[in-house]
Amino acid sequence: MPALENDVFLRALRREPTPYTPVWLMRQAGRYLPEYNATRARAGSFLALAKTPSLSTEVTLQPLARFPLDAAILFSDILTVPDAMGLGLYFADGEGPRFERTAADEAAIARLEVPDMAKLRYVFDAVREIKRALAGRLPLIGFAGSPFTLACYMIEGAGSPDFATVRRMAYGRPELLQRLVTINARAVAAYLNEQIVAGADAVMIFDTWGGLLSASAFRSLSLASMRAVLRALQPAPDGRHVPTIVFTKGGGQWLDELATCGASCVGLDWTVDIAAARQRVGARVALQGNLDPLVLLTDPGVVRREAAAVVRAAGPAPGHIFNLGHGIVPATPPENVAALVAAVHDESRASRAGA
Ligand code: CP3
Repeated sequence: MPALENDVFLRALRREPTPYTPVWLMRQAGRYLPEYNATRARAGSFLALAKTPSLSTEVTLQPLARFPLDAAILFSDILTVPDAMGLGLYFADGEGPRFERTAADEAAIARLEVPDMAKLRYVFDAVREIKRALAGRLPLIGFAGSPFTLACYMIEGAGSPDFATVRRMAYGRPELLQRLVTINARAVAAYLNEQIVAGADAVMIFDTWGGLLSASAFRSLSLASMRAVLRALQPAPDGRHVPTIVFTKGGGQWLDELATCGASCVGLDWTVDIAAARQRVGARVALQGNLDPLVLLTDPGVVRREAAAVVRAAGPAPGHIFNLGHGIVPATPPENVAALVAAVHDESRASRAGA
């Protein structure tokens, strides 16, 4: 495996010094880009886009053609795994994801199995095709949902403002939810290992809903299953250790536990004081984050000011990857993203020069 032309992101994940702070953005390929909407229209639907490796490759590369980002992220979705488990994922127009079948009771959960990874081959083919298209320019991030976050959609059958059914089960039938999360953890580990074999340079676990739980339920249902996934990950085919990122939205109060769960890096949402977070975790892990995505709905001047503030708060210690605290929203003007990426690079170069 030849060295990457730009490996600043991977160096920061290893907490090595870098000439500037690397930046990539959650949902960097998405509806705020007119070229994404055009490709999606051509594909016919989001799922057709995600399930066609050549189109997934095309949209993965779109933000990289516009902005000097420091990493690519596989264009796919976390819900591909429960889809492969037979739940029947679909997206109703203008709504979020839905499943034809839920896994909300004893019988449905008993029927679940770790899916045959051949059903997810379109994802691994996309990873291979994106790697070929990147031609060593930038690292590629693979990803999966956390076992608990996948369980949220599998139980509820769709998104929910409060995932009330899931939380009731977490306290009323913890052993049943634990069974579901344990199967998901095995599926997610197999899924990430296949992405690593296909060429992913780093992998991220999205725990979007872990922050809905009480501290003890978070530990037993979400954190423990993410640890199990991380323990099961294998090195790349050439023997390299593949760095890992965990992101629990709303998980700032559990930072110490997240920092020792076995991941190389902890993602922070925008409610966390990143300076305080760095003090607390010391040199144990890299930190990723954490600008409020809604800052991108202001103007380039405000974007530059707020981005510089995050870079300064993260401090001079190695191991900061700039990102948003959650995904880019569709109303984001692309010129604000350009201002953001430039501001992160300029401010971090200047602060390293002692300015
Ligand atoms: O970050 C990237 O650019 C990579 C692609 C990516 C998508 N989804 C594409 C997508 C990633 C990493 C995800 C992860 C994902 N998917 C998460 C975890 C991260 C998070 O946002 O909290 C979750 C919870 C999902 C499930 C999901 N997929 C939801 C709730 C939705 C609807 C919400 C929305 O933004 O519309 C999706 C659809 C989806 N996944 C879109 C994209 C670009 C929008 C689909 C469209 O084009 O209409």
